[in-house]
Amino acid sequence: MNVPFVDLKTQYLQIKEEILQGINEVLDNTAYVCGKKVKKFEEDFSKLENAKYCVALSSGTDALHTALLTIGIKSGDEVIVPVNTFIATSESISLCNGKPVFVDHDERTFNIDVNKIEEKITNKTKAIIPVHLYGQPAEMDKIIEIAKKYKLYVIEDCSQAHLSEYKGNKTGTIGDIGTYSFYPGKNLGAYGEAGAVLTNNEELFNSMLRFRQHGSVEKYMHDSEGHNYRMEEIQAAVLNVKLRYIESWTEKRRQAAAKYNEQLANLLKNEIIAPYCPEYVKAVYHLYVIRAKDRDKLGKYLNSKGVQNALHYPVPLHMQKAYSYLKHKEGDFPVAEKCCKEILSIPMFPEISDEQINYVCESIKSFFD
Ligand SMILES: Cc1ncc(COP(=O)(O)O)c(C=O)c1O
Repeated sequence: MNVPFVDLKTQYLQIKEEILQGINEVLDNTAYVCGKKVKKFEEDFSKLENAKYCVALSSGTDALHTALLTIGIKSGDEVIVPVNTFIATSESISLCNGKPVFVDHDERTFNIDVNKIEEKITNKTKAIIPVHLYGQPAEMDKIIEIAKKYKLYVIEDCSQAHLSEYKGNKTGTIGDIGTYSFYPGKNLGAYGEAGAVLTNNEELFNSMLRFRQHGSVEKYMHDSEGHNYRMEEIQAAVLNVKLRYIESWTEKRRQAAAKYNEQLANLLKNEIIAPYCPEYVKAVYHLYVIRAKDRDKLGKYLNSKGVQNALHYPVPLHMQKAYSYLKHKEGDFPVAEKCCKEILSIPMFPEISDEQINYVCESIKSFFD
């Protein structure tokens, strides 16, 4: 049996008619950028995430860049960011000429270790970016407490965590701004590049709205310089269809994770560690990441059995060439360095069948047998 890592085709076939209709409407309207469908998406997505304001954008990276420029990050400013995330999170700080300041992650949750944040704060620190990695919310109570104490902004990177909840609140508006990616493989994925920011702060909203479009709300009138970070109508048409299903797809991801947990239970003592999820969060399982003995061999074995797998992420950011200028060395972030050698992401998508889950688990068990 072949089990893909994600299966976008099966999902597309389920919603094909609605998608084609939506795209046809865009073509018939001949309005291709930031039109009615983008507006509708902003209304519906903010409602679903319990946010007052949404600005639809061209990618998750652009969303982070927009958020950080809007809160005023500039040359010399420091921004705290977990060392275990996709580079877009830290890259967006550098795009504003700021300095990413890495913090190790918590060994159980894989999110920023909130007990190691304060030691990294200096008089140049302006913001913290918690990343709700793999779809699991970070420890927001403690992060907000620290941010208040030191008067820092909090930008939540929700690119992997659409609809996730922390203590009954949707992530994304617990801090000042939430940033989203709708890259095709994400829980809510467009058919190309797309992203968004959410906020409850009207002033930040208006700044981000202007920044998206060359500092302008009224055509050819520019209050400031900005960028072209507009969302395309075709992407909004796709996202509007998918918004009708995202809650049920999220539930299916949770059910799939529960089945994995159950079936892998007898390996938990020695061979693998399953994702840890505190009872006060509702994770959305963008990824299902296990830690395993002999990870490299297990990954190869699963590939040979037709089970696709991946690493998120193979090298922590401080060991990437891109950040050699920060002069970190091995041993600076011991948890990330240890975990990156053990992690393995196994297939996770809403349409994964019981047979596929059984096959993945049987394959993992047969490796250890
Ligand atoms: C945690 C995180 N932040 C930011 C991004 C960037 O999003 P995009 O690819 O839409 O620019 C991603 C996408 O992979 C991500 O996983």
